[in-house]
Amino acid sequence: KAVESDAPKFPIPANVYAETVVSVHHYTDRLFKFRITRPQSFRFRSGEFVMIGLPNAEKPVFRAYSIASPAWDEEIEFFSIKVPDGPLTQHLQRIQPGDTVLMRQKSTGTLVVDALTPGKRLFMISTGTGIAPFASLVRDPDTYDKFDQLVLTHTCRDAAELVYGQELISNLAEDPLIGEFAPRVTLYSTTTRQQTSHMGRITHLIESGKFYSDLGIDALNPETDRVMICGSMHMIQDVKALVEKLGFEEGSLNSPNSFVLERAFVG
Ligand code: A2P
Repeated sequence: KAVESDAPKFPIPANVYAETVVSVHHYTDRLFKFRITRPQSFRFRSGEFVMIGLPNAEKPVFRAYSIASPAWDEEIEFFSIKVPDGPLTQHLQRIQPGDTVLMRQKSTGTLVVDALTPGKRLFMISTGTGIAPFASLVRDPDTYDKFDQLVLTHTCRDAAELVYGQELISNLAEDPLIGEFAPRVTLYSTTTRQQTSHMGRITHLIESGKFYSDLGIDALNPETDRVMICGSMHMIQDVKALVEKLGFEEGSLNSPNSFVLERAFVG
C-alpha cells in the first residue's frame, strides 16, 4: 500500500517490521507523540518496549521505546523526546504521516502487571517520557482486573510537558472500550521548573506526605499497594530507595513482587 516515494531506500533487516506512520503530534520542542500501523502478527504485553529505528542507513540505529498504546489497539503509539544530536531522534522528530518506521519483532520489559503480585492500588510513578508504558497500562482492561485503583504520577519541568498525560486521562472517559474504568484512575501531575498549582519532585512530595494529602489517600503500604517506576535514571534510583525503605520488594516475571522499574528512553 505504501506509495513509491515512501519505499525504504535500504533493505529491511531481518526480524524487523517496516510500518507506516499514521499520525504525529508535537507537544513541545522536546516532546512528540506518533502512531504507526500495527503488524498483524505483532503481539506484546501492555507496558513493554520495542526497538525502533528508521530505514535511513544500511545498518539503522535502533533505540528502545516503550509502547504507549494498549495491547488491544490497532495502531502502535510512542511518546518520544527530541534530542538535537540524538543518533535516532534527530531524524525521528522529522517523520511525517506516510513515512516508514522500523520496529524489531520482539517486545520485552519489566513494567508488566504479571511481574507484580495482586494488590488493591497500583501506583505508576513517571517523569518525562517515562509516562509512555503507563499510557499503555491505563488503557488496558487487564490492569483493572488486577487492581482496584490506579494512581499515575507524572513530573516534568514545565506545564506543556504534562499535556500528553492530561489528554490521555481526560480522553479515557470517552473511550467506548475502556471508558468504564476512568473513575478508577487518578492523575497527579507536578512541575519542577515552572510555577503551577502542583509543584515539586515526586520523591519530595511522597516523603513530605503532600502527595497523600493532596489526593486524600492513605500512604503507600506494601501490604496493599504495588508500584511501577519509569523515568530518568536518578529518579528511578531515588524512588526505588524510597519504596524499599517502606518495605516494597522488586519483582520480575519469574518472581512477581511489590514493585518494578525501568529506565525511560534517553537519547
Ligand atoms: P528537576 O527539574 O528538579 O530536575 P528531565 O526533563 O531532566 O528528564 O526531568 C524530568 C523531571 O524529573 C523533572 O521534573 C526533574 O526535576 C525530575 N527529576 C529528575 N531527577 C529526579 C530525581 N532524582 N528524583 C525525582 N525527580 C527527578
